[in-house]
Amino acid sequence: MKKEEDPATGMLSIPGFPVVLVTVARNIMTAAAFSFYSFKPPCVMVGIVPKRLTFELISEKREFGISIPRADQLEIVGMCGSISGREADKFTKTGLTPMRGKVIESLLIEECPVSLECEVVHEVDFGGTHRWFIGEIKAAHIDQNYTRDNALMYWAREYRRVGEIIPVEQK
Ligand SMILES: Cc1cc2nc3c(=O)[nH]c(=O)nc-3n(C[C@H](O)[C@H](O)[C@H](O)COP(=O)(O)O)c2cc1C
Repeated sequence: MKKEEDPATGMLSIPGFPVVLVTVARNIMTAAAFSFYSFKPPCVMVGIVPKRLTFELISEKREFGISIPRADQLEIVGMCGSISGREADKFTKTGLTPMRGKVIESLLIEECPVSLECEVVHEVDFGGTHRWFIGEIKAAHIDQNYTRDNALMYWAREYRRVGEIIPVEQK
C-alpha cells in the first residue's frame, strides 16, 4: 500500500542522475542536475544554482564543457563539488590535466573518458533553485575503451554505479 508523502519527499524517490564535471573557462564544477535535451540538434542541459562561480562563467562565456568521470574518480568529483573556483584553482587542487577542445575556449579534462563541447542555445529559469542551461554539443571526445557502465549516478546524498545491462529483444 502506498502512503501519501509531501512533494519534496516524492522528488527524493527519483533513482538518480548522471554525475558530470562541468568546465567553463578554467573552472570545474560537479553537477548531477544533468540531462539529455534533444537528439537533433544534439543538446544536453545542466541546472546551476545562481551563487556558483560556474553560473557566472556560463552566463558570460555562453559555452561549457561536460566531462564524464568514471566511478573510480569519486574523490575528484567530491572535490569539484565542494570547493568553489572562487577559493582555489580546481585543476591545480585535483591534479587534473586541462585539455584544449576543438570549438570552445573552455578547458576540458584529459583524465575523463568523455568530454563534450557545448554552446549555450537556450536557458530556462522560472525562479526555482536552478537555472537550466541548454547546450548544443558541437564536438565530442571519447576514449576508445569507454563504456557507460563505469559511470556514476547521484541523488539524495547517495552515489551509485550504473547497473548491469538488461538484455531485451529489439523489435
Ligand atoms: C554530487 C554533487 C552533485 C552536484 N550537483 C550540482 C548541480 O547539479 N548544480 C549545482 O549548481 N551544484 C551542484 N553541486 C554543488 C557544486 O558542485 C558545488 O557547490 C561547487 O563547489 C560549485 O563550484 P563553483 O563555485 O566553482 O562553480 C553538486 C555537488 C555534488 C557533490
